[in-house]
Amino acid sequence: MCGIVGYVGPRDCTDVLVSALTKLEYRGYDSAGIAVFEGGKIEVAKTKGRLADLSAKMEREGKPQGHAGIGHTRWATHGEPSDVNSHPHSGRRVTIVHNGIIENYKQLKQFLIDNDRTEFLSDTDTEVVAQLLDFYYDGNPIRCIRRTLHELRGSFALGIVFADRPETVYAVRCESPLIVGQGQNEVFIASDVPAIIKYTKDYYLLEYGEIAILKNGSVQFCSLHGRVIEKELHTADWDEDSAEKGGYPHFMIKEIHEQPTAVKTTIMPRIEDGLPNLAECGITFGTLRRLKNIFIVACGTAMHAGMVGKYVIEKLARVPVTVDIASEFRYRDPMLSRDDLVIIISQSGETADSKAVLNLAKERGARTLAIVNVKGSSIAREADMVIYTHAGPEIAVASTKAYMVQLAVMYLFAFETAIAKGRIDETECRHLTAELVRMPKIIEQTINAVVDVCQYVSTKLITADSLLYIGRGLDYALSMEGSLKLKEISYIHSESYAAGELKHGTISLITEGMPVIAVATQNTLLEKTVSNIKEVKARGAMTIVICDENADIDKDAADYMIRIPQISEMLMPMVATVPMQLLAYYTSVNKGNDVDKPRNLAKSVTVE
Ligand code: F6R
Repeated sequence: MCGIVGYVGPRDCTDVLVSALTKLEYRGYDSAGIAVFEGGKIEVAKTKGRLADLSAKMEREGKPQGHAGIGHTRWATHGEPSDVNSHPHSGRRVTIVHNGIIENYKQLKQFLIDNDRTEFLSDTDTEVVAQLLDFYYDGNPIRCIRRTLHELRGSFALGIVFADRPETVYAVRCESPLIVGQGQNEVFIASDVPAIIKYTKDYYLLEYGEIAILKNGSVQFCSLHGRVIEKELHTADWDEDSAEKGGYPHFMIKEIHEQPTAVKTTIMPRIEDGLPNLAECGITFGTLRRLKNIFIVACGTAMHAGMVGKYVIEKLARVPVTVDIASEFRYRDPMLSRDDLVIIISQSGETADSKAVLNLAKERGARTLAIVNVKGSSIAREADMVIYTHAGPEIAVASTKAYMVQLAVMYLFAFETAIAKGRIDETECRHLTAELVRMPKIIEQTINAVVDVCQYVSTKLITADSLLYIGRGLDYALSMEGSLKLKEISYIHSESYAAGELKHGTISLITEGMPVIAVATQNTLLEKTVSNIKEVKARGAMTIVICDENADIDKDAADYMIRIPQISEMLMPMVATVPMQLLAYYTSVNKGNDVDKPRNLAKSVTVE
């Protein structure tokens, strides 16, 4: 979603803002803009389109020159992408950038109109905030921010400059993430760490209702009531290279290749003497033993990781697991009790619907566990327990390595729960854990083994209008993710179906040459899946089968076969994910799409 940046320091502010915004491009955007103090006045440059369009515009019309300012990439919510709707937005003395949504902006606009403020240029909720700040501004920025925030409903973060407070940037956070970077005699604000990592690894996390005042290369924090706050300085444990393509053509393929390391870094600190140990994450045997029901709630890819988790937890630990989409769960008045555990899975830790579910679960007395990649994110901080995945920054919008490590954590959690519940003994748990420890190596071998065939098979997909992903059991859970990955970056319509369900309606869609990708890694279900593959083949489908290297499948059932290493059935999802990611990646590349920034999508969905 939108990205905010800000800078106060000795460098060329416009250059810093544009460079920082480039690092937030992954969040998705359709317009960009900056506001910089130049000679005591606020100069604004903004445009619909990409940052390159903004730079071109500044080249033509003049680039604001100064040392303090704010910048923004906008992902349109209120009003189409256009020059005038782009941020920054201004009142008479106040200019702002905004991430999030103001739910009551219509009432506030009416209030302003009723009070003779009628100069609205855009369709945005943001301009209403700028005007409201201006309306309340009496020369005291903190008082003005407080009064304005008191009126706003929604979740948002703001970067603010006041015309009569030159060289000073104010920032305030209400739900939407915002960090403050501290360098040598320079300070930054940003929606995410990658924006500032080139300049500094040190940052503060702004909390709900806190204001940051950036001036003279340093920052001061205060509450909405002006009380000074001391904050803890964090240091990012990754560097600029992690947020660069490092020689790969796209972040997505780089991140696919980073999966072995990501899995290793995620699981190894949680394995002790050959057994999982999640105590450091606040998860005790006592908690696991008492569990009656588990709810895994998340969005998109993260929810698909939960689907795999359901199969594995239920099979090993025999605890009923419900998996739900966060935007549905939060509105269906779920039945939760103290002995239930609600697991929220989220790469960003900021997804609005997932965050709302966390709050709801807490309100209803359930225990909450967050599985999150971004350190210090809202979901991680608010949950009772947290397991951080250590995938490092994921920049491509299509999630790959974050999904892989979410799977790894699902396994660790299932093993630990199963042993706590007495469903498996130590020997079995050691055996399963040892197999998980082998996964980084196996994932690496799989990438090398299937990259060429995936590249080739993807050339057969690019002309398709529509395709199906099918599978049974864990393969069905996995095919949901395969289908999402493919459609989000190739723009080919794709659906995932439980293979046994095809005959109940969907098989009528099969026409000559329609691709059907079958995931067939579950040997206990193999014969049945093969029958389903033959059924679609007999009706003209072009079949692509992902199966293990030893699977006994008739050659004539598959037009193309993608063979992957064989490991225990239960862990196959971590291997079979790889060809699905590569098929999606190469199909998108072959179609000439913007692989890392697919249309209409945002990396971090901070609005409902
Ligand atoms: C798809 C994808 C999304 C996210 C979803 C949840 O590739 O990345 O479906 O999984 O938006 O995001 P997080 O995990 O940040 O809560």
